[in-house]
This record gives sequence, C-alpha cells and structure tokens, in this order.
Amino acid sequence: MMNTLTIKLWDGFIRSFHWLLVVVLAGLWYTGGDIDYIDLHHQLGLVMLALLLTRIMWGIVGSQSARFSYFMRSPIAVWQYFKAPFKHEYVTHNPAGAYMVIIMLALLLSQAISGLFTDDAIFFRGPLAHLVSNDMVRSLTRYHKQAFDYILIAIALHLVAIFVYTVMKKRLVGPMITGRKAYPENAQVNQPKQRHGAFGLVLLGINITWIFGWLS
Ligand code: HEM
Ligand code: HEM
Repeated sequence: MMNTLTIKLWDGFIRSFHWLLVVVLAGLWYTGGDIDYIDLHHQLGLVMLALLLTRIMWGIVGSQSARFSYFMRSPIAVWQYFKAPFKHEYVTHNPAGAYMVIIMLALLLSQAISGLFTDDAIFFRGPLAHLVSNDMVRSLTRYHKQAFDYILIAIALHLVAIFVYTVMKKRLVGPMITGRKAYPENAQVNQPKQRHGAFGLVLLGINITWIFGWLS
C-alpha cells in the first residue's frame, strides 16, 4: 500500500459553512415561491446573508486554505490547469474551482441582497425596499426571481465537477466532511496554516445577531 501524507485542509468553519449553505439554500428554494412561507423565506435569507458575509471575512482572516489570496490564481493558471486537469495535486481549490467558488458566492450574495429590496405586490415588502424607487424595486424583484436559475446552473456544474473528480479517483468530498485529505507521500504539498474553526463560528454568531437586529 502507498504511503500517504495527511493534511488538515478545511477547518470546522468552512465545513459548517458549506453544509449549512446547502441546507439553507434548499430551504430558500422551498419557501421562495409560496406566500405562506414568505416570513420563513425572509429569515432564511438573512441567515444566508450572514453565512456569506462570514465566509468573505474568513477568506481574509481565516485559515490559509480558506483565504482568497491563497487559492486565487491568474487566468493563465486556469488555462494551464485545463491542459492537464487531473495531473497535479492541489491543496485547497484548483485554479478553475477557485473561480467557480467566487462565481457561486457572488451569485448567492447578489440573490440575498436583491431579496432585501423585493416586493411581491401582495403581502411582503423587503426590509430595504423603502430606500429605493419603485422602478428599482420592480427591477430587483425581477432579478431576484430570474437569477435563481443561474444559481441552479452553477450548482449543477459544481456537482458535475465533483462527480467527475470522484470518478477520476480524486478525493474531494471526504475532506469537506472530515477536514483532512491524504496525498501521495511524494506530492509537492505543504500544510496550510490553520485557524480554529470556532473563531469563524463566533464570527458567524455575531453577524447573525446584528443582521437580524437590523433587517428582521
Ligand atoms: C446547494 C448546493 C451546493 C452549493 C451552493 C455549494 C457551494 C460550494 C461552495 C461555495 C464551495 C466553496 C467552499 C469554500 O471555499 O468556502 C464548495 C466546495 C465544495 N463542495 Fe459544494 N456546494 C453544494 C453542494 C455540494 C454537494 C452536494 C457536495 C458533495 C457531493 C459538495 C461538495 C463540495 C466539495 C467537495 C467542495 C470542495 C471542492 C474543492 O476541494 O475544491 N457540494 N461548494
Ligand atoms: C440567497 C438568498 C435567497 C435565495 C436563494 C432566494 C430564492 C428565492 C426564490 C427561488 C424565489 C422564488 C422565485 C419565483 O417565484 O420564481 C424567491 C422569491 C422571493 N424572495 Fe427570495 N431568496 C433569497 C433571499 C431573500 C431575502 C433576503 C428576501 C427578503 C428579505 C427574499 C424575498 C423574496 C420575496 C418577497 C420573493 C417573492 C417575490 C415575488 O413572488 O414577487 N429572498 N426567492
């Protein structure tokens, strides 16, 4: 059996963030089109906003493997990556995956922010809708309804990529559950500096508190 080198890749915050994101997004999808659930949709939207904001903060001050400056590469690196996608071992996101992460976070953030300005013209007016003109509220409500399709497309691509990697025997899903990833002993990889995930969870708690205090 080949010797392996185990690296701590995803701290507790990133793992909690990822799986909470999946659960909260499923809830938002379920509650989105239904007047009976619009208050729950609003609350879940605020949780989503806090999750995304905390992830962005963690991308600046958190564990090295979670930092944008650590995993973002130039478009040339993406081009080179696609020439031999399964050849190298990566610590944290590969160059193409990194751009996909940014696209997913940006789509989700614009969805959550536009939600704050929506008006369903029956029961519900978003907590910041009074700050902008009625035309702007109409445009942002339209955006909020249409842009969700782009989120679904991004998720489909994400899942296809994970599936292809799994078929190619690259382990991605296990590390997003356990936090650890085993590499061949001769792989050119270094242990990224880790912050305790509990700091990220405290940050999440603080962000949930002020966001709900302000926008609930
Ligand atoms: C609602 C559906 C999903 C969304 C919105 C989503 C979103 C994301 C995001 C934003 C990241 C980047 C993590 C970070 O750096 O903070 C990520 C990574 C990841 N996701 Fe998902 N995800 C979804 C579903 C899933 C599912 C169902 C799986 C497993 C089958 C999965 C497996 C992974 C893995 C393995 C990574 C790390 C990829 C890597 O090592 O580069 N995701 N996902
Ligand atoms: C990332 C977070 C969010 C996601 C993924 C999301 C998703 C959705 C989806 C899928 C719909 C149904 C669209 C349709 O009927 O075609 C919807 C509708 C709606 N959402 Fe969100 N939402 C989010 C955040 C928010 C927030 C924060 C608010 C308000 C504070 C909000 C308010 C609304 C309203 C009022 C509607 C109904 C619009 C109408 O039917 O005219 N959403 N959302």
